[in-house]
Amino acid sequence: MNLKAYLRSRRKEIDRALDYYLPKTNVKPATLHKAMRYSLFAGGKRLRPILCLAAAEACRGKVSNALPLACALECIHTYSLVHDDLPSMDNDDYRRGRPTCHKVFGEGIAVLAGDALLTIAFEIVSRAKPAPRYDMSILLREIAVAAGSQKLIAGQVADLEAEGRKVKRDQLRFIHENKTAAILKSSIRLGAMSANADAKKLRAVTQFGHGLGLAFQVIDDILDVTQSSEILGKSAGKDIAAKKATYPAVIGLEKSRAEARRLTRQAHDALSVFRDGEAEPLHCLANYLLEREY
Ligand code: IPE
Ligand code: IPE
Ligand code: MG
Ligand code: MG
Ligand code: MG
Repeated sequence: MNLKAYLRSRRKEIDRALDYYLPKTNVKPATLHKAMRYSLFAGGKRLRPILCLAAAEACRGKVSNALPLACALECIHTYSLVHDDLPSMDNDDYRRGRPTCHKVFGEGIAVLAGDALLTIAFEIVSRAKPAPRYDMSILLREIAVAAGSQKLIAGQVADLEAEGRKVKRDQLRFIHENKTAAILKSSIRLGAMSANADAKKLRAVTQFGHGLGLAFQVIDDILDVTQSSEILGKSAGKDIAAKKATYPAVIGLEKSRAEARRLTRQAHDALSVFRDGEAEPLHCLANYLLEREY
């Protein structure tokens, strides 16, 4: 499989669909729609939507049925970044290779652009064509729970509250599981649901998503220490400066790398129920995430 070409073509499809779903910059309130598009089209890796589509593929579904769900997930992810960067949270000036939303549009508009990106995600989900086993209420609940006060937001709360404190490994795990792994796992589950996956396959991709989601944040923490801001497209070295609870801070760099490899191996193993080739894109994506440089 040519991963580079695969990623390029998926990103193109996703960006085309996002452009279709998002109000144009001349629609009132123009400043808000400009801010939403500024952050959304800044060049993110589009991993969550790509994983959603790859899970649909693995379960022999149509990519077109998964596409609205994939786009909704990218909107939620982007909202979480816009708010994560706010001065009252991680206070970051640089994201996706450009100044952060609040740096360009001001804090008020950045808060509102985040609100609007979160809300539009549900409007986009409502356009999906549900499969027989998973009706619209199941799809909506999946995404609402993952983005909600006991998952993504719970993780962000714990992340803020852990700043400057000595945290144990189980607290760190809680932060990662919720602020990052929950949405990644749901991205993969929603792709499988759009393909009408049976219970066995849904269980398999759920386990895959869990391992991959945890590994993803461990690697994000490692890259913050080892990479430059230019390559990351976001400010490096911020976690130590902000005394964040991260894997490198708690167990050191080498053990963090080993942990990321172990979690990725677990993720691969979860896919053994799929027949030859079906889950190849998922396997390739897991390797790519482990080896990524940004
Ligand atoms: C960054 O996510 C935030 C985390 C959850 C670690 P990504 O590394 O996927 O960011 P983009 O979407 O490519 O900008
Ligand atoms: C972000 O974690 C997680 C969410 C946005 C939900 P980080 O704070 O580590 O992400 P970066 O490093 O700023 O991208
Ligand atoms: Mg953060
Ligand atoms: Mg941050
Ligand atoms: Mg980080």
